[in-house]
Amino acid sequence: MSFNTLNRENIVDFIANIFERRGAESYLGERVTMAEHMLQSARLAEMEDAGDELIASALLHDIGHYTNEFPEDALEKGQDNHHEDAGPQVLAAFFPPAVTEPIRLHVAAKRYLCAVDPDYFGRLSDASVHTLNLQGGPMSEDEVDAFRANPHHRNAVRMRIWDDDAKVPGQTTPGFDHYAPLLQRVIDLYLE
Ligand SMILES: [Fe+2]
Repeated sequence: MSFNTLNRENIVDFIANIFERRGAESYLGERVTMAEHMLQSARLAEMEDAGDELIASALLHDIGHYTNEFPEDALEKGQDNHHEDAGPQVLAAFFPPAVTEPIRLHVAAKRYLCAVDPDYFGRLSDASVHTLNLQGGPMSEDEVDAFRANPHHRNAVRMRIWDDDAKVPGQTTPGFDHYAPLLQRVIDLYLE
């Protein structure tokens, strides 16, 4: 299948192909691969009956690390983007804001939780503490207010917790194929 142009018929295969070819790459400083990490995130969402859209969001939350895989027209000026912005940018043509907004906010959600939940910081992995500093540290009060004003902020926080917990070495999960029909369902509902 050619992926020169993405459409609703080939986008799920396209993403499956990224998982297949690039999934074995390590997840920056963690002891799981990228595919393990994203599949563990989706599994945690699924175990909480989070619903199709939020499960899709968890599954795809780090796809922004792979935006160099997407055809050029999918991304305007992509390569220097932060992964939390690049992912939603390429997904927005196929997935609703209920999927892309928690992805866009998943780094902000970490900064938010560090500001409002004293216990949260202690749960972060070393790599995650390191990136927190690069990402601007805990939110200020004004940033907290602005974050809470986004209607998707609660789901972004839920996803953040799954993201943090989805770093268990050797844990088995269903594979990408298990989620392919769910992704197609979300896409078809949105583009109908
Ligand atoms: Fe992640």
